[in-house]
Amino acid sequence: MKDFRQRELVERARLVIPNGMYGHESVASLPAGFPQFFSRADGASIWDADGNKFVDLMCAYGPNLLGYGNAGVEWAAERQRALGDTSTGPSEIMVKLAEDFVAMIDHADWAMFCKNGTDATSMAMVTARAYRGRRKILLARGAYHGAAPWNTPGLAGIVAEDRAHVIYFDYNDLNSLADAIRGHEGDIAGIFATPFRHEAFANQTEPSLEYAQGVRRVCDELDALLVVDEVRAGFRLSRDCTWSLLGVRPDLSCWGKVLGNGYPISALLGAEKARIAAGSIYATGSFWFSAVPMAAAVETLRQVRETDYLERLTDMALRFRAGVAVQAATYGFGVMQTGPAQMTQILFEDDADLRRGFHWVREALEGGLYLHPWHNMFFCSAMTEADLEVSLTATDRAFAALKAVGGKLPAQDNAAILTRIARMAKSAA
Ligand SMILES: Cc1ncc(COP(=O)(O)O)c(C=O)c1O
Repeated sequence: MKDFRQRELVERARLVIPNGMYGHESVASLPAGFPQFFSRADGASIWDADGNKFVDLMCAYGPNLLGYGNAGVEWAAERQRALGDTSTGPSEIMVKLAEDFVAMIDHADWAMFCKNGTDATSMAMVTARAYRGRRKILLARGAYHGAAPWNTPGLAGIVAEDRAHVIYFDYNDLNSLADAIRGHEGDIAGIFATPFRHEAFANQTEPSLEYAQGVRRVCDELDALLVVDEVRAGFRLSRDCTWSLLGVRPDLSCWGKVLGNGYPISALLGAEKARIAAGSIYATGSFWFSAVPMAAAVETLRQVRETDYLERLTDMALRFRAGVAVQAATYGFGVMQTGPAQMTQILFEDDADLRRGFHWVREALEGGLYLHPWHNMFFCSAMTEADLEVSLTATDRAFAALKAVGGKLPAQDNAAILTRIARMAKSAA
């Protein structure tokens, strides 16, 4: 794999960007050789700075739902760009977007738009507090809701007061939720839930019906708001809020990533009962009302409603999962593919230091497939039969390479990731 340009960019970035890169798109916790910089994206593929092409199972960590450069979305964005983007006030497209979105999501009666998922979850947190003037926010231990001081998994620069009113409980465990609430009954503002348990490093688990309905019941008893954070899973499992599949209507739901199929836009949706609280908070941003991402979102939502994108991406995801399962069995590896196939997490058994996983994804990369060793992945509806074939050929090659090294797996540069796992465990404790 060519990496001349990559190495040059990494070197230049190191001088002018802290650590050369930051946040979830830093390759510091990926195997050596993973490209940091990219030059192009189209359909289900990405090209790195040296022009190496990969089928991309990360989909930009979620936003790519309908394919990079989706013709309809690009056309809608282009048309709006010709009219204007960031202006002194929002375009009329904001009203259309809110109408369309609210009509699609069963629990929603109103919408507010912002840029990142963290904006939406932070607005949900503040709205929940404003609802009855209470303080306590309940989060499932280890669940990611963004990078603001109240929820970031990183601890540098965070003080205890930032989370003084955050209480943690265990996902899928109503007893743990009850324990977390005990003694604070009159001060609970809201409970956050993710559609399923999808944190990094761990096997993903689906919520039980009893749990989801139990969380709804607890919120009703306490008159607290139930927030479903759809930022990661939105529209990959359902055309409605994911917990609607469990018969649960949240009071607030947070959306981001896929909403503009890559254009920067996120949203907080809410039920009637939370409207006054949401209207009372001060929430804004210089770019929150830009019209191009809203036009992209209107078209993304149209395709969500009117095309079979969900069935197509689900079909590809299930076939990929089945193919990997057969290969793993053939080569004699224990592989855990957890969570919904559309957002699969693949971890190796007996691989606490991720050594096998690192080697496997590195070999797949050489075969033209971009996988992630410890984060859930994402499928998009632009994946073709040829992309699937490239993907399964690459995973087969990777299993063969892993088998070839047998018990003598070369040491991986895992220090950064092991430190990070330890830090995250500490911050969730
Ligand atoms: C469940 C969930 N909530 C919130 C966020 C934060 O979104 P953003 O990175 O757009 O701020 C993420 C990001 O991965 C997420 O997965």
